[in-house]
Amino acid sequence: MSINQSFRFSTAPMMEWTDRNCRAFHRVLSRRARLYTEMVTANAVIFGDRERLIGFSDAEHPVAVQLGGSDPAALAKAAAICADWGYAEVNLNVGCPSDRVQGGNFGACLMRSPALVADCVAAMKAEVSIPVTVKCRIGVDEQDPEAALDALADAVLAAGADALIVHARKAWLEGLSPKENRDIPPLDYGRVHRLKQRLPHVPISINGGIASLEEAQAQLAHVDGVMLGRAAYHQPELLLRVDSLFFGEADPHEDAFAAVEAFEPHIAAHLATGGRLHDITRHMLGLFTGRPGARAFRRRLAIDGVKADAGLDVLRAAVDEVRRAEGRRDDRRMLVA
Ligand SMILES: Cc1cc2nc3c(=O)[nH]c(=O)nc-3n(C[C@H](O)[C@H](O)[C@H](O)COP(=O)(O)O)c2cc1C
Repeated sequence: MSINQSFRFSTAPMMEWTDRNCRAFHRVLSRRARLYTEMVTANAVIFGDRERLIGFSDAEHPVAVQLGGSDPAALAKAAAICADWGYAEVNLNVGCPSDRVQGGNFGACLMRSPALVADCVAAMKAEVSIPVTVKCRIGVDEQDPEAALDALADAVLAAGADALIVHARKAWLEGLSPKENRDIPPLDYGRVHRLKQRLPHVPISINGGIASLEEAQAQLAHVDGVMLGRAAYHQPELLLRVDSLFFGEADPHEDAFAAVEAFEPHIAAHLATGGRLHDITRHMLGLFTGRPGARAFRRRLAIDGVKADAGLDVLRAAVDEVRRAEGRRDDRRMLVA
């Protein structure tokens, strides 16, 4: 599948959130959304416990690994390892503003060093045949987003980058926490749309603040793909309509109840190898958001689901809270009718 096709809808790389259990869950909700890992540093891939850091299951495909780093040789080596592990894409992080990341001179501060990022991309491209992509901001600090984004894009594309994902806001490296840097710098979708107009043949995905599938679809009039982070994580139910709305294919499940049932074998396998229910259900708390019973669902998982011996029965009981609440609502409707 070309990157253009599966690029239409993706979920964002999110540290502590998009681990393999989260991705397995999202994959049950959409067969086609492109899923990104948490960021993992090049050195961690090279020297760390690979099964723990980049292990994934084929069922997650298409799945892209996001690397952090700024040493071309290390990134090339890490990219080669990830390609051997079977990832569909290697993405380079040029957007993360945390201090830890700046200390290592990578992430968003690389917006100031297009030539170095280009060297990183070229080195990775030389080692792998899977797509190499870059996720960046529109600029940092006092940079002019018109010049900064063009400079970065032109440099990495000349080095062979296959696609760009742009978080449509600046990062302020001084004075804002990573969390604030995801909300406070204003969104500028127009800047990303102009990049696409200037580079019509380059696959470009837009990210940042997209809260619904309707908003995401509207973006496709301007760019090739949309990447949703927090909305997909906090309201995973929206992923249930991605395959039909973005890929013209049948959705995998009629509703969230059916999706949870389909996910049970994954959970059972995780429990059977000594894993905890909470490792998985912590990524499911947003399911049923906005429905009657959603709060009771979350409470069950938060209280009973964290116990060491919690099993599938806890999840089933939590889901039953929603069924019961919906049944009560339906009963009320019938009484009114
Ligand atoms: C908890 C959390 C962790 C994140 N970790 C990463 C990361 O590892 N790499 C990255 O490029 N962006 C990371 N981000 C940023 C997201 O990928 C995304 O760019 C940002 O949340 C804006 O998109 P959204 O408004 O759709 O959430 C993270 C965001 C959150 C909320």
